[in-house]
Amino acid sequence: MSNIQNIKKRFPIFENRSDLVYLDSTATSLKPKIVIDKIREYYEKYSANVFRGIYPMSEIATTEFEETREVVSKFINANNAREIIFTRNTTESINLLAYSLGRKILEPSDEIVTTIMEHHSNFVPWQVLTNEIGATFKVIDINEDGILNLEFKIKNSELLKKIISKKTKILALTYISNVLGTINPVEEIIAEAKKINPKIIVIVDAAQAVPHLKIDVRKMGADFIVFSSHKMLGPTGVGVLWGKEKFLNEMYPFMYGGDMIDEVYVDRTTFKDTPHKFEAGTPAIGEVIALKEAIKFLEKVDMKNIRKHEKEITDFAIDRAIAKFGEEIKIFGPKNIDDRGGIISFSFGKFHPHDIAQILADSGICVRAGHHCAMPLHTRLKVPATVRASFYIYNDENDVEKLIEGLKKVKKILI
Ligand code: ALA
Repeated sequence: MSNIQNIKKRFPIFENRSDLVYLDSTATSLKPKIVIDKIREYYEKYSANVFRGIYPMSEIATTEFEETREVVSKFINANNAREIIFTRNTTESINLLAYSLGRKILEPSDEIVTTIMEHHSNFVPWQVLTNEIGATFKVIDINEDGILNLEFKIKNSELLKKIISKKTKILALTYISNVLGTINPVEEIIAEAKKINPKIIVIVDAAQAVPHLKIDVRKMGADFIVFSSHKMLGPTGVGVLWGKEKFLNEMYPFMYGGDMIDEVYVDRTTFKDTPHKFEAGTPAIGEVIALKEAIKFLEKVDMKNIRKHEKEITDFAIDRAIAKFGEEIKIFGPKNIDDRGGIISFSFGKFHPHDIAQILADSGICVRAGHHCAMPLHTRLKVPATVRASFYIYNDENDVEKLIEGLKKVKKILI
């Protein structure tokens, strides 16, 4: 984006850390002032609990809180705000689904299908659930380019037919891999999966997609999507679960307690309707309120511009910068830039990823090293760990140049 310097000015962290090269937005994004100010506004001007008081401060807090639900709903083109549930993070949203949906519908003869590129949070809950019930857990593999092995460009995929059957109750897959950067053609996969089994319930982990792509849940065709505020310029402590209302209405609460009940008697309890029956206890009020400012910020920049910018910077980093190291650096994931988001995971010779990240950190460059909460994927890639650099709206080519300088330094020190 041409106005990257203007965008950077909106993020106070760059004033406080002028040399910061932040390449870890896949872990969490930086926060614009407008989001920080909104949290401050809540604590300074109306820091009451929500849904509980009839005094003005509580009413303002409740209105602000519910406004965020509306903003989120419009942002992803949900049918209405009742389909938006606030949790603590993507992980909690998926665990809610495994508990309130999976546990109720899964029989020993059933199957859950996921992929080898999932984050542990969209893998372990389903693995544990199928083990508990005695059901089958199936994992879709990838090819050498880090693309799901589905022949998904071909209609009536034979491979998908081998994996998905009438026994498949749930398909849980990621939209964008947090390691490979692969953008899965979820719309196509969902349409094909539902052709094979119209009753299949599809859950999309959109934690790495909602911050970077224009999402339209109605067009996507999923039944649930999950994502986190903190990866999309918003505060930590807020996750989102979007689901089709017909499923949400049938689902039991995940947690029981304050504010999710309708009536409680000594011998029985009735619950509120969705979304509130899923939101037990005091939520992260200021953080939810501030999430809407993050969304307004993203909308102003425009999701199309964000995608275009990330594509350009990723292309620049792979083709013109990292490529200079030749075969010393192995980049995992799709070769075609259209198939990947702004995430580059790589190995560098025989250097240990943690040593690389440490030397980069000494130069003020923030990357992540490790298995990135995706151990099955790293086992599949036959590497214990990778180094990951990821980009967002505040990154530019200078950051890439600094990364390259840092990698040269790594080589000098470790060789
Ligand atoms: N899911 C986050 C990451 O990939 C934390 O780094």
